[in-house]
Amino acid sequence: MSLIFAHRGYSAQFPENTMIAFQQAKEANADGIELDIQMTKDGELVIIHDEKVDRTTSGSGYVKELSFKEIRTLDAAYKYKGKLHKVQIPALEEFLEWIKPTALTCNIEFKNNLFVYAGMEDKAIELVRRYGLSERVIFSSFNHYSIVNSYRLAPEIETAPLFSDGIYQPWIYAEAIKATGIHPNHRLLNSQIIKASENYGIKVRAYTVNNEKRLQYLLESGISAVITDDPVLAKNVMSRLKNT
Ligand code: G3P
Ligand code: CA
Repeated sequence: MSLIFAHRGYSAQFPENTMIAFQQAKEANADGIELDIQMTKDGELVIIHDEKVDRTTSGSGYVKELSFKEIRTLDAAYKYKGKLHKVQIPALEEFLEWIKPTALTCNIEFKNNLFVYAGMEDKAIELVRRYGLSERVIFSSFNHYSIVNSYRLAPEIETAPLFSDGIYQPWIYAEAIKATGIHPNHRLLNSQIIKASENYGIKVRAYTVNNEKRLQYLLESGISAVITDDPVLAKNVMSRLKNT
């Protein structure tokens, strides 16, 4: 059965990469949560997609040039003014503490393809191990050196390279870098590629699938998971397929 991962939480309706978006993804019965991490000036792992805080918060500047204390003063729901109260950029640790008692799986994306954050993988691994979540976490990144580094440091935690360009037989590549899955842009996929990879033992989790027809096609192809902004839509498509 395919899993539904909520992309940056339930980001179709709530401020992306915030605790409210994660809580609402759980309410929507998502199976997993996808989130992005960056590192502050003082070495704290925080959940935010961009290298800069400008697009998603009330502040400005690079995450790597702000302290954790400064980051926590920003409003990550400022676009929802009048609808939601101020929400803070979550620390990865706060999220892991929240997810621990749930049954949710978690895909942590290292956002280290533009800036190399020294020690990012070590810090994330330490936290995931401390919270006993190694079996429920998948690390992904567009930086495949980081994926290999993560595997070397923690072979018990699953890894999956992200890619936005087509490569030939990506399941062979995944095996070569010791990954257990691939996270391609969904536009690169067809049912033959999905089946070949899944039959080879490499899980396919496609991002970011928000179109109903496309969700149906991928789910019917036997994909391991889809990563979507709208877990309610994806769950509806899935139950319709089950009942037909
Ligand atoms: O992890 C899948 C997807 O989130 C990768 O792209 O830019 O949304 O982080 P992006
Ligand atoms: Ca992401």
